[in-house]
Amino acid sequence: KHIGIPLWGCPIQASSLRPGEAPLINGWIPFLGEALNFRNDPTKFLLSLQQKYGDVFTVHLAGKYITFITNPLQFVYVTKTKKYLQFKELADQISTKNVHKAYQYLLGRPLDVLSDSMMGNLQGLFEKMCSQATDWEMGNMNKFCFSLMFEASFLTLYGKDPSAVDYNIVEAIGDKFNKFDASFSYLAANVPIELLGAAKSIRKELISVFLPENMSRWLGASEVVQFRKDLFDMYEGLSDRNKAGTHHFAFMWASVGNTIPATFWAMYYLLRHPEALAVVRDEIDHLLQSTGQERKPGNCIHLTREQLDNLVYLESAVNESFRFCSSSTNIRIASEDFILKLEGNQEVSLRKGDLVAIYPPILHMDPEVYEDPKKYKFDRYVEDGKKKSTFYKQGRKLKYFLMPFGSGISKCPGRFFAMNEIKLFLVLLLAYFDVEITEEKQVGQDKSRIGLGILLPDTDIAFRYKPRN
Ligand code: HEM
Repeated sequence: KHIGIPLWGCPIQASSLRPGEAPLINGWIPFLGEALNFRNDPTKFLLSLQQKYGDVFTVHLAGKYITFITNPLQFVYVTKTKKYLQFKELADQISTKNVHKAYQYLLGRPLDVLSDSMMGNLQGLFEKMCSQATDWEMGNMNKFCFSLMFEASFLTLYGKDPSAVDYNIVEAIGDKFNKFDASFSYLAANVPIELLGAAKSIRKELISVFLPENMSRWLGASEVVQFRKDLFDMYEGLSDRNKAGTHHFAFMWASVGNTIPATFWAMYYLLRHPEALAVVRDEIDHLLQSTGQERKPGNCIHLTREQLDNLVYLESAVNESFRFCSSSTNIRIASEDFILKLEGNQEVSLRKGDLVAIYPPILHMDPEVYEDPKKYKFDRYVEDGKKKSTFYKQGRKLKYFLMPFGSGISKCPGRFFAMNEIKLFLVLLLAYFDVEITEEKQVGQDKSRIGLGILLPDTDIAFRYKPRN
């Protein structure tokens, strides 16, 4: 069982497993292994293997041998084995440690600054909409979430280009981003970009946005972006294109690629569940009232971190939508041959280069952890009016019960900002507008991003909004 692309037609035979290695499921199609079954319905597929082989097994997926750990009580043994189970290193000479220093600017006081700035930017955009809408206005929900969240997040992180006076440059970047993003799952699956239509030229244009001469024009960039820019500028061996592409463009993708679909799902589920919407709206109205803020466009709404944090029903609703739509596989690579020790004296032998994976949807849909898991319950994460973080499996409290942001060393550094952004969007939307879905159809999940992050909606849906009285 070696990782990497095996010779065509020569998948590793289960008979060549070494003692202590997990059962191997090869599938009968050479090379693709079980990839097709996995792609069709990964949760069902992995659960069926779990029933047959137990909590730990290795699957041959499109040339890679991946050992899945499927019992959430075991996850902690994966994340705490940092020495042997590593997250990928950056490919160039900049050390991960230096890059990670930038993440302090996504916490504490800089996080407050970022959230305040996001609030101001979102408010500006919502107010523009309000001034244009007197009665019901129609819109498409995904497009709506994209345009507001992309523009506000971009301005918050990268600042403004003062030279673009009568032209919305951020909207133009957003359009390109959207087109590029449509090819993302193919690129992640290593399909050559040359085969993906205009993706190559669009990526080139997007990368140009982040060339040093362009970035230095933007005013009011956030501390996190400024720190990263200064850091990469110190590495003279890095070409400007490399800085712009590998680092700035990739960060931009990380900062909006998941947040925008997550915003869509949070809004969609709330509007589909009027009882949830009523409670969340009430919570927001109550907060605004108790802090003497009028929910009228033109009236600046300001929420401190503590106030945002205390919106427990709103947060629970966002988390409940994360439970449905997040599919980021947590992957680790064995840095040497070693024995992974798991719960209850269970041990698994791993070889250097082996991949180990946690696939969170199995946890998110586990009926033992979440009663009636297919049902949207907006207040699942609230207990006695406070945030709930006690979830159990086999009678034991789980450390990991919701994993949209990964785990351990590769856990998303932007998670607090992301949650604030989504909350701010919903606070302003519900404070300013009455909102309704106007189509019967149910939105499903686009499967092309399975394993890669927040799933995209498979279709857009019409809705309408009107300034509240
Ligand atoms: C709902 C929104 C978001 C979700 C679900 C999300 C999810 C994730 C996940 C799962 C990872 C780990 C990837 C892996 O293990 O391979 C990650 C990494 C990362 N995320 Fe997020 N993210 C979100 C928003 C953000 C935001 C707003 C930012 C920045 C402002 C951000 C910046 C990053 C960065 C820089 C990394 C790479 C970390 C590293 O160096 O290892 N993310 N994100």
